[in-house]
Amino acid sequence: MIDRPLVIAANWKMHKTRGEASQYMRDLAAWMAGSDSGAGVDGPLQVVIAPPATAIAAAADMAVPASIYAQTMHQEDHGAFTGELSAAMLKDAGATGVILGHSERRQLFGETDAALADKVAAAAAHGLHPMLCIGETIDDRRGGTAHEVVTRQVRLGLAKIDGETAARVGLSLAYEPVWAIGTGETATPEIAQEMHAAIRVTLAELWGEEIALRTPILYGGSVKPANALELLSQPDIDGALVGGAALDVPSFSGIIDAAAVSLRAAVASS
Ligand code: PGA
Repeated sequence: MIDRPLVIAANWKMHKTRGEASQYMRDLAAWMAGSDSGAGVDGPLQVVIAPPATAIAAAADMAVPASIYAQTMHQEDHGAFTGELSAAMLKDAGATGVILGHSERRQLFGETDAALADKVAAAAAHGLHPMLCIGETIDDRRGGTAHEVVTRQVRLGLAKIDGETAARVGLSLAYEPVWAIGTGETATPEIAQEMHAAIRVTLAELWGEEIALRTPILYGGSVKPANALELLSQPDIDGALVGGAALDVPSFSGIIDAAAVSLRAAVASS
């Protein structure tokens, strides 16, 4: 039996105004109401939407059965950090979780593992679900250090949170090989499964088997309706973090449908 949810998450990145966000959420609500996917905020199949910060309130106000996450967050509660947003501010806007350490944040905005450890702890302290992203570059993979890089990111990023707290606040991980993000290139289901299994072993070493088994590990990198089922059918792939293919509802809902199919198959075979 599966002891963790499947999570299908949309990372809108720097897309959509408030009006566009409201329209998307309306369309998503209409689709969810008519679908038999069983997807919702809680339960075995969960939907997450991560709008840009300016559209969090607009998305949250639509009261769609989906969690609203921020895309990044500052680790301090307040202070002289021009342009940054705290956990309390994101919660106030309507977010219940936050994506942390996306490779674009790491590569383009200099987010370090040390800062991410503080961000994970700060999100948890404020009751936001942290979703920590990890993933190797193409050079790491070609150089044979993908495992080492990713397990180090897990250990460093989770250095300031214990397993009980992580389980209580609903922490998840998202494995996103940098070479697969926005490139149309997806990790094969075998590569993704192998990395997810290694990440779960690292979680078990840190926090014990039980919490490792309860922690969702999402895959991200060019997920689309056509490849979602194969990826989500892997035993250690517990969802998808989707960029480009999550920008419109017909495509994103196709991925939710694929998740529902894989969940039904897993339940039937358990
Ligand atoms: P992509 O982005 O689906 O467009 O590859 C995924 C992500 O960056 O989270």
